[in-house]
Amino acid sequence: MKLILLGPPGSGKGTQAQKIEQKYNLKQLATGDLLRDEIKSESKIGREVKKIIDRGELVSDKIIISLIENSIDKKKFSTGFILDGFPRSVCQAKALDKILQKKNLALDIAIELLVEDKKLINRIVGRFSCANCSAVYHDFDNKTKKEGICDKCGSRDFLRRSDDTKEVFAERLKEYYRLTAPIIPYYKDKGMLKSINAMESISYIENNIYGILDSVKKQN
Ligand code: AP5
Repeated sequence: MKLILLGPPGSGKGTQAQKIEQKYNLKQLATGDLLRDEIKSESKIGREVKKIIDRGELVSDKIIISLIENSIDKKKFSTGFILDGFPRSVCQAKALDKILQKKNLALDIAIELLVEDKKLINRIVGRFSCANCSAVYHDFDNKTKKEGICDKCGSRDFLRRSDDTKEVFAERLKEYYRLTAPIIPYYKDKGMLKSINAMESISYIENNIYGILDSVKKQN
């Protein structure tokens, strides 16, 4: 199965991708994570990318498209994948179509997570994640079961993202409406879009997504 998770920053794409990954044996392909790995490597591109991310802007389509093209080639994505954070512009959506066509692959579905803007900021400023396995948590809404210990891998090291501030979030949201939201009609017109209410609890949304994916699986 090959799917896209769409939605503004903080809508829960990463949280849900980690759950879908386990249940359906798919690989999460998150461009934000790929870019943060590039930053960690302290490469020249990584240093440029950090400046862009910390301003809340989008990285150039050229860099992102080549990252995706190389990643989808890797064997570990052969069972299927969840795209999280990509595509993020109409140009990227069209490029994805071409990449998949070249590899004889086709997308099954695009799921849009709908959340009111006013809810997003709290999700963003309260987010932290495991430094070892990247599991995503929240200070109030999605805490670790034991304080200071990752539920998944037991690590005691956690990270907060440098772009998870009120100011940078405001820019990210502007960029979302300016460049990313126009891809919603792109997938709607292809008959591939399912939009779900993502204001509810994580488990409620998770079950909704499983319902959608189970019916896709039956059709395949
Ligand atoms: P990226 O890392 O992709 O960030 P994003 O799209 O802004 O999305 P987030 O990771 O902030 O949110 P999410 O929807 O995954 O929410 P999460 O599940 O973590 O991109 C970062 C930057 O990289 C971009 O700004 C850009 O510069 C660059 N970039 C990346 N891809 C690019 C591309 N394709 N093109 C160009 N540039 C690109 O949840 C958030 C919090 O809420 C968590 O704490 C979670 O525990 C909590 N939560 C989740 N669901 C719920 C719920 N239902 N109820 C309560 N709390 C919840």
